[in-house]
Amino acid sequence: MTTGKQLVVDPAGGRALRARLRAPGDKSVSHRALLVAALASGRSRVRGLSRGDDVRHTLEAVVALGAGVEEVGPELYIEGGRDRLHEPDAVIDVGNSGTGIRLLAGFVAGVKGLSVLQGDSSIAHRPMDRVAVPLRLMGVPVDGRQGGRFPPLVVRGGEARGIDYTPPMASAQVKSAVLFAGLSAEGETTVHEALPTRAHTEEMLAAAGGDVEVTDEGNGRAIRLRPSALHAGEIDVPADPSQAAFWAVAACLTPGSDLVLENVYIGTGRAGFIEVLRRMGADLELAAEDHLRHTADIHVRSGPLRATEVGGAEVPSLIDEIPVLAVAAAFAEGTTRFSDAAELKVKETDRIATTVELLQALGVRAEPAADGLVVTGGAGRPFRGAVVESYGDHRIAMAGAVAALGASGPVTVNGWDATATSYPGFEEDLHRCLR
Ligand code: S3P
Repeated sequence: MTTGKQLVVDPAGGRALRARLRAPGDKSVSHRALLVAALASGRSRVRGLSRGDDVRHTLEAVVALGAGVEEVGPELYIEGGRDRLHEPDAVIDVGNSGTGIRLLAGFVAGVKGLSVLQGDSSIAHRPMDRVAVPLRLMGVPVDGRQGGRFPPLVVRGGEARGIDYTPPMASAQVKSAVLFAGLSAEGETTVHEALPTRAHTEEMLAAAGGDVEVTDEGNGRAIRLRPSALHAGEIDVPADPSQAAFWAVAACLTPGSDLVLENVYIGTGRAGFIEVLRRMGADLELAAEDHLRHTADIHVRSGPLRATEVGGAEVPSLIDEIPVLAVAAAFAEGTTRFSDAAELKVKETDRIATTVELLQALGVRAEPAADGLVVTGGAGRPFRGAVVESYGDHRIAMAGAVAALGASGPVTVNGWDATATSYPGFEEDLHRCLR
């Protein structure tokens, strides 16, 4: 879906990115903050929530399910507790959010009654069998288009039983759906993962008093959860590494840049892009590390990049950053391969196709592969100006805007509206940092 708005981004020219910037509140943490607070008895305070449409839809969903919400300045107070939750009166709209619909599917498995979850035209084509299958194994009736493969999803909640489950793909969304359902299930629930995926759900459930245990199984991790009551608390949402990555790449490729990205989450399953940029030779340092909260400031200065190989176990930790890392690769010396990333095909768009199309439009040598893409860099040679399409995908739109900084002429991003899903203030931040 390409919608109306366009953004025209001029090349950086002599300007550079020089600022201290706090990227928006982490989207993954924000969804979970709302769900955990809705389940937790009492009044929770959430600070730094993502202001994107995806998270707003999840906020509306928890209200429809019975949570009380009050906004006081930048803070959100949520009155939660299992006894407040009830069957929603209407269909729940998740907008464009894959995380929203999959996590909510697990959440409503624990809410007595019928919940119907649906979203926009992109969501309508995203695979839901990955959550329908384990939820059914838990005894939860789940249906949807094509036998539950696609939304709308119809979930009859209230009577789940625990399972021992190994998702067939590395997916934090699937793990989280099963864990949310497991919270109120009969018996214990265990999810095994061969490759570590983002650990927010287990971390946040544990912080709210959930009976969660994570063990190293040698060939992966197991997350075991017993049915638990959660208690209200204070949740501070750190800055989103997936958004910080756009600025880190922008600073690398814009000569003279010196940027500090504040308070970024760098815990399990999220910091892969930092390692990749370092392998590419980026001038990138961590400061003000907080080992308890898994956050740090990331200090990036511009400099030449070289090609690398991206694949294997690190992929889940940078899957959302591949479009912008591909922009970095296009600016690096040599050929960069992204492999083991077939999951890209089932994101907001087929990101193998849309990333390759974006780069090719800018004159970059980029080819799709079965499980990723191959990008041959021009060693700092500028991209050409072009009109590029977001296809309704926020990360493709922002990758286009970052590439524009290193282009020889203006880049017009069609479908810029898509950025509202995760980063409504991107354009403003760009103007603020570029001087
Ligand atoms: C997310 C997990 C990832 C990621 C998505 C957010 C999450 O998806 O791509 O943007 O918050 O759990 P998968 O779990 O499908 O890999």
